[in-house]
Amino acid sequence: MITAVETTSLTKKFGGFTAVDGITLTIPEGSVYGFLGPNGSGKSTTIKMLCGLLAPTSGRALVLGMDLSSGRKLREGAGYMSQKFSLYPDLTVAENLELYAGLYGLSGANKRTRIDEMLEFSGLADRKRSLTATLSGGVRQKLALGCAILHRPRILFLDEPTGGVDPKSRREFWRVIYSLSGDGITVIVTTHFMDEAEHCDRVAFIYGGKLLANDSPSSFRKRMPGCLYEISGRDTMTLLGNVKRRSDLPLIDANFFGAKLRLLFVSEYDFAKDRAFDGYESKKITPSMEDVFVRFVKSGAEEGRA
Ligand SMILES: Nc1ncnc2c1ncn2[C@@H]1O[C@H](COP(=O)(O)OP(=O)(O)OP(=O)(O)O)[C@@H](O)[C@H]1O
Ligand SMILES: [Mg+2]
Repeated sequence: MITAVETTSLTKKFGGFTAVDGITLTIPEGSVYGFLGPNGSGKSTTIKMLCGLLAPTSGRALVLGMDLSSGRKLREGAGYMSQKFSLYPDLTVAENLELYAGLYGLSGANKRTRIDEMLEFSGLADRKRSLTATLSGGVRQKLALGCAILHRPRILFLDEPTGGVDPKSRREFWRVIYSLSGDGITVIVTTHFMDEAEHCDRVAFIYGGKLLANDSPSSFRKRMPGCLYEISGRDTMTLLGNVKRRSDLPLIDANFFGAKLRLLFVSEYDFAKDRAFDGYESKKITPSMEDVFVRFVKSGAEEGRA
């Protein structure tokens, strides 16, 4: 395995507050690697350190074999799409591409070719003189991605690229991510959409600045204990209350999932024999990344390891 990123106890403090707390991980080259965690868990701060935009307080990060203190060379090999700011809304599509091409040091025929290619890539060849502010969220994010890959980086950092993007455009955006990964580019992407984690080769669960665990989505699912059931019917609120009060149930956890309940039992459970579930529909389900994440947070399992 060729390693794209290797961190050791990577830590960032802002004053007395620890935003990223001793993260150690390895990211194989060519993979799609997801950072998954709630707001404020330290995803963006970690990405910024891996891009060389923010110096770690302690610990180390090697990106494409380079220690981050040597900054400049990495910037040539890396593309970064920031969460908060990536395009100037009051510039045209073409002007934004020009700007990034300049930042990445492209010039001459190569610059013109790449700008044309990225106009095609983002589906904006006939809108290059449109103001960026007039683009829809999904199209804007595709243009921002086009800007981030103008210089053909080997590693791409995408910080919440699908924030504010509708589900259809999100799926399309993920197809683009796959095709980049298919070309051998390592893609590191943050999200708090749990379903997007399913698209990644590996996922790191980040919580409170710590790496709770990292694994492939399928291995994560196998690490879930017991049997998970989804219960639907009227007044699941009362049912949840009743279920939680009972001490005879071999229950590991019980949560709402929309209006339905998710019950995690130690092993298979025969609902037909339990009067409390009369009138409810129960169905054994495969845990989603959200179920797995919730489980990891609750059990505090494997903290800092992985
Ligand atoms: N420059 C800074 N100064 C002080 N605190 C900061 C700074 N940048 C981030 N933080 C804090 O560090 C924590 C982690 O922030 P970060 O932006 O990395 O989280 P995140 O996981 O990307 O969240 P989100 O999902 O909202 O984007 C937050 O509590 C944030 O307020
Ligand atoms: Mg963030």
